[in-house]
Amino acid sequence: MTEMDNGGAGQKAVEGAEQGMAAASGQLLVGIDLGTCRTIIMSNRGVEGVERSVVGYAKDIISQRVVGSEPLFGDQALAKRNFLDLCFPLCDGVIREASERDYVAASQLLEHMVDLAREENEEVEVSGIIGVPARASMMNKELLLGIAQGIMDTALVVSEPFMVAYALGKLSDCIIIDIGGGTIDICAMKGELPTAEDQVTIFKAGDYIDERLAAAISRRYPTAQVTKSVACKIKEAHAFVGEPVSPVRVTLRAEGKPVEFDVTRELRMVCESIVPDIVEQLQMLIQRFDPEVQETTLQNIVLAGGGSRIKGLDTMLAEQLREYGRVKVTCVDDPDYIGAGGALKLAMDVPTEQWKHIGVMFGGQ
Ligand SMILES: Nc1ncnc2c1ncn2[C@@H]1O[C@H](COP(=O)(O)OP(=O)(O)OP(=O)(O)O)[C@@H](O)[C@H]1O
Ligand SMILES: [Mg+2]
Repeated sequence: MTEMDNGGAGQKAVEGAEQGMAAASGQLLVGIDLGTCRTIIMSNRGVEGVERSVVGYAKDIISQRVVGSEPLFGDQALAKRNFLDLCFPLCDGVIREASERDYVAASQLLEHMVDLAREENEEVEVSGIIGVPARASMMNKELLLGIAQGIMDTALVVSEPFMVAYALGKLSDCIIIDIGGGTIDICAMKGELPTAEDQVTIFKAGDYIDERLAAAISRRYPTAQVTKSVACKIKEAHAFVGEPVSPVRVTLRAEGKPVEFDVTRELRMVCESIVPDIVEQLQMLIQRFDPEVQETTLQNIVLAGGGSRIKGLDTMLAEQLREYGRVKVTCVDDPDYIGAGGALKLAMDVPTEQWKHIGVMFGGQ
C-alpha cells in the first residue's frame, strides 16, 4: 500500500515546527523510518508514504512479460509474488549484510520512498533523518549512510526510540519502548541526546512472536497448516497478554479443509514471552536515572511501534514493576507514523549544519 496525503495523525508530530522556511528555500526535508516490516517517509511538504519493506524482481523472462523488468515494492510486490523473487532487505532493524542483492534492494527501496516525497523528475536538494535500532552498530549506520549518499544530499541517522521521544516532546524523565518487527528498542530520555548506556536493543520482537506462534500452533494441532505469515495475521488480529477476555478461535486449513482451532493459550504464551526481557531492561535503565526523578520517570513509560498494539501489555508491564511504586505505561496514539514524524520534526527544528552534533551523517556543510 502506498498512501500519500496531507495530514493524518502522524502529521501532528510536525505541528509547531518551522515548516515554511525550508519549503520556501526549495529544500525537501524528510523523516524516514526504515523498518524491518514497513518503511515510512514524511516530508516538510506534508507528504506521507508507507510501504512494506520488500522489493520484488521478475523471476524469469516469462514473468518479466507480466510484471515488467522494473522492481516492484511493498504490497504491489506481495500481490504479484508468484512472478517475483522477493527480497526483504532489512533484518533485525538493519540492512542485511549477507549479499549484494540486499544492499541493492535496500537502496532501491530508499530511493522509491524518496521518490514518493518529491514531484516526478523534480531536481531538489533532499535532506533527511533516518531511524535505526537503538544499538545499531557503527558499521550498520555507515552501510545505511553509504546507501543514502547516492539518493540524498544530506542524511543523518538517529535511534528509533529517540525519534518517538522527540515527536512526543518527551525529552526528559521518560522511557520509550518501541516494539517493531525485528527489534524492541528501549531508550531512557534524560534531557540530552541518549548515550549508548541509555539505550537497549532486544532482538525478540514481532517476527519472533510470529515464528513461535506458528510453531506452538503446529505442536498442539499437527494437522493445522500454519505458516509464519498466517501466524502474523492471527497475532495482528488478536494479540493479547494476561487473562483472555474471550477465547481466540481461528479458521485454519487442515488436510485441505477449513477447520476452527482454539489458539488462546498459544497466543497468550508467545505474546507474554517478550515481557521478561522488557521488564529486565526497564529495571536496569530506571536505576541509572537520578534517584530524584525515578518516581516521575516510572509514570512516564511510553509504548510505540506495531507491537504496542498487543492488548494488555501496558497494564502487564506496570503490574510487573509494581514494587518500584506507582508506574504508568501508555501507548502512543499513532504507532505507525510517530517515528518518521519525530525524525521530520527534528530535521525541521535543527538546521542541517548542526546535524553533526546529533549523530553520524554526510552532507550539510
Ligand atoms: N495489532 C497488533 N498486535 C500485535 N502486533 C502487531 C499488531 N499490528 C502490527 N503488529 C506487529 O508490529 C510489527 C511491526 O511494527 P513496526 O511497523 O513498528 O515495525 P518496524 O519498524 O518495521 O520494525 P523494526 O523497528 O524492528 O525495524 C510487526 O511484527 C507486526 O506484525
Ligand atoms: Mg521500527
